[in-house]
Amino acid sequence: MNTTETIARIQALRGVRPIAMLTAYDYPTARLLDETGVDIILVGDSLGMVVMGYPDTTHVTLPHMIHHGEMVARAVKTALVVVDMPIHTYDTPDQAVKSARTLAATGAGAVKLEGGVEKAPHIAAIRAAGIPVMGHIGLLPQKVLEEGGYKMKGRSEEEAAALMEDISAIAAAGAFAAVVECTKGSTARRITARSPIPTIGIGAGHGTSDGEVVVIHDLVGAFPWFTPSFVKPQAQVSEEIAHAVRTWKAHLTLPS
Ligand code: KIV
Repeated sequence: MNTTETIARIQALRGVRPIAMLTAYDYPTARLLDETGVDIILVGDSLGMVVMGYPDTTHVTLPHMIHHGEMVARAVKTALVVVDMPIHTYDTPDQAVKSARTLAATGAGAVKLEGGVEKAPHIAAIRAAGIPVMGHIGLLPQKVLEEGGYKMKGRSEEEAAALMEDISAIAAAGAFAAVVECTKGSTARRITARSPIPTIGIGAGHGTSDGEVVVIHDLVGAFPWFTPSFVKPQAQVSEEIAHAVRTWKAHLTLPS
């Protein structure tokens, strides 16, 4: 199946069953997720925190995303691979096209960028260059320093109205789907009802979007030092690793 068909298949899931999207940053995780039947695998710039140990995503660069995008693209046969565009790699439409071309060359099927109305020209330019784009509205992690923290969006009627404008603008610009992050549940529901493209929620309540996305480390308990309050881990991989290491260490023997 080519990328256009894969995207059409994902869009056709709307209203049929929830779209399942997870992050992956390396070959074995991506291969496992693909074999499990996840619809979309996101090489998120969240790798800045859960893989690279930075405090937020603002330290992530284009070479980082290329490096990890290649690992994931090499592993995936069926799912759509989406690679995040890091901060300041899409400040203008021209720069966005140049960066998106570099990221698409990893073998990924699409790129994702953060922003609403103000990023519509950037999305349109990337689409015109033939590269599929996923939008990302609501809480924008790349704005964490500007906004002084992570703040839930869509609480006031004014913010909700702005988000409605955002989803319409990025859909009109050619985004094929959009992440809606940390947005009040009732607002996320309204965005989904208004949206011409599938919405994929994170931290926006269950059943408010056409699908959901989770950072894989949060889902499987692989980054035990921090788990977002909205995630219910389904495993505790870090405990399994610690147990395996302790057991192995306890059985080491010296030469007799
Ligand atoms: O970087 C990331 O993992 C993301 C998801 C949280 C949507 O953008």
